[in-house]
Amino acid sequence: MGAFKEPHGGELKQLYLDDAAAAAARKEALQYKSWDLTERQLCDIELILNGAFSPLDGFLTQAEYDGVVKDMRLPSGVLWPMPITLDVKEEFAKGVKPGEKLALRDPEGVLIAIMDIADIYTPDKHREAEKVCGADDPAHPAVHYLHNIAGPVYIGGKLRGVEAPMHYDFRLLRDTPAEMRARFEKLGWRRVVAFQTRNPLHRAHQELTFRAAKESQANLLIHPVVGLTKPGDVDHYTRVRCYENVLEHYPEQTTTLSLLHLAMRMAGPREAVWHGIIRKNYGCTHLIVGRDHAGPGNNSKGKPFYGPYDAQELFKKYEDEIGLTMVPFKEMVYAENRAQYIPSDEATAEDKVLNISGTEFRRRLAEGLDIPDWFSYPNVVKELRKSYPPRHKQGFTVFFTGLSGSGKSTIANALLVKMLEAGGRNVTLLDGDHIRQHLSSELGFSKEHRDLNIQRIGYVASEITKHGGIAICAPIAPYAATRRIVRDMCEGVGGFVEVHVATTLETCEARDRKGLYAKARAGIIKEFTGISDPYEVPEKPEIVLQTEELTPDLAAQRVLLVLESLGFIR
Ligand code: PPS
Repeated sequence: MGAFKEPHGGELKQLYLDDAAAAAARKEALQYKSWDLTERQLCDIELILNGAFSPLDGFLTQAEYDGVVKDMRLPSGVLWPMPITLDVKEEFAKGVKPGEKLALRDPEGVLIAIMDIADIYTPDKHREAEKVCGADDPAHPAVHYLHNIAGPVYIGGKLRGVEAPMHYDFRLLRDTPAEMRARFEKLGWRRVVAFQTRNPLHRAHQELTFRAAKESQANLLIHPVVGLTKPGDVDHYTRVRCYENVLEHYPEQTTTLSLLHLAMRMAGPREAVWHGIIRKNYGCTHLIVGRDHAGPGNNSKGKPFYGPYDAQELFKKYEDEIGLTMVPFKEMVYAENRAQYIPSDEATAEDKVLNISGTEFRRRLAEGLDIPDWFSYPNVVKELRKSYPPRHKQGFTVFFTGLSGSGKSTIANALLVKMLEAGGRNVTLLDGDHIRQHLSSELGFSKEHRDLNIQRIGYVASEITKHGGIAICAPIAPYAATRRIVRDMCEGVGGFVEVHVATTLETCEARDRKGLYAKARAGIIKEFTGISDPYEVPEKPEIVLQTEELTPDLAAQRVLLVLESLGFIR
């Protein structure tokens, strides 16, 4: 390891046991309680164990967590901006104690690491959201995760690695920090600029990364995140095929590509500092930090969560401690008259500047429209078109939500029949009552059971969507956060259209087709939506149907028209 690139905290952690010790640990672990790591925890643990998160040597204990949340510092004083925590369910936490050992396994049961439990604590999640993400607003993906997906209790303690999480894809492109450092050493790369990305790269990115490397007199590491990114992002398989194409456009031996199995939090400024520390551990000397680096978009009031340069400012403030130089990202535009890319601040009045925004690019892709060669490389566009055909060839989910008796099932049925009449697509109706018969027969109507029911529906709908089909769902789905989970699942693999059947409680009760409202009023049915249980009205559904004014036939027609205008059907 070259002494010229000191890892964060001074030592590159390597937490894996040797083969003999790992074999012994596997036996020993049979007596311990096991925790099945979540997708995010699997990303985190991989980077703890391989040293990418040096100086961390486990999931944060309470003292570490408190310091990190409060002012981005570990008790040792070392800068660390992101709480890396093992969140578990309350019941599970009750069954373990500090001083015990815990076997941490992947979803197949493979033992990844053993944890020495140091402490078990209940975090103040509101404070964590405020401090780490800048706002306790569920529109922020990490805040949504914190409140709705992460467990309520954290377990802290050191780890001993038994086996690295397995990846069957792109194996040659995955490197640990030690492997990356060895590669740089072998290549004689002393100065390396890292480029962090969760998006496909186009010509402008190639230009700006190459310029950044040239200006810093450094080589370039394209270091895309392939763990967890923002829901709805282009899947990493497609992206990596695109990156491989772009790589051919750099001068030989200047640039390399490696995949980072990071779970992003989209926490803007703190995330930028974190990205810097990780790249330092990988042996890089510079990081390109863009405008709104790792920004999650708009908050629930429609305003951006972070200012465009907040990330650069925080990075600059801690640059010495991070020990890695920031290369501020310049926006590149295409000057048609010069037939080349230039930084936007170098464009003069004479220049004919062309630009296609990310949103416009996605629209063109969704509608199968032209994407000019000056914008991207033909092979990149070809890959993206293969994975993301025009919308009318993609699968999608139509998710009806509304009170019992609002007319969801009737309209959903009418929609199904109209789609079958038009033909040419596979359509499945996942009606609330049918799902409760076939998929959720053991579930009741507590919040926990309703959430489980909706997540099951969401899982099936997202699979149908992924395979190009159309799923029509019609449950009550009373909780906004759970509907959001289903949206995230579907939007990653196709389309999602939420339809609020906004029939008022008075009308539903007056209709009372199943006699359930009378029973609910009489207290015979407990936890009845609208009477003795909540219904959270959707804030931004794609469609709202007022059934007091619409027959089911007309309501289904309206849905079809919206689907057509969104490009999902022709
Ligand atoms: S949920 O909340 O989304 O899981 O509900 P869902 O699976 O759609 O099931 C709703 C149907 O179950 C009947 N039912 C109740 N609904 C609400 N609250 C309570 N406590 C309840 N108990 C039984 C009711 O007939 C619902 O059917 P729809 O089609 O919505 O009228």
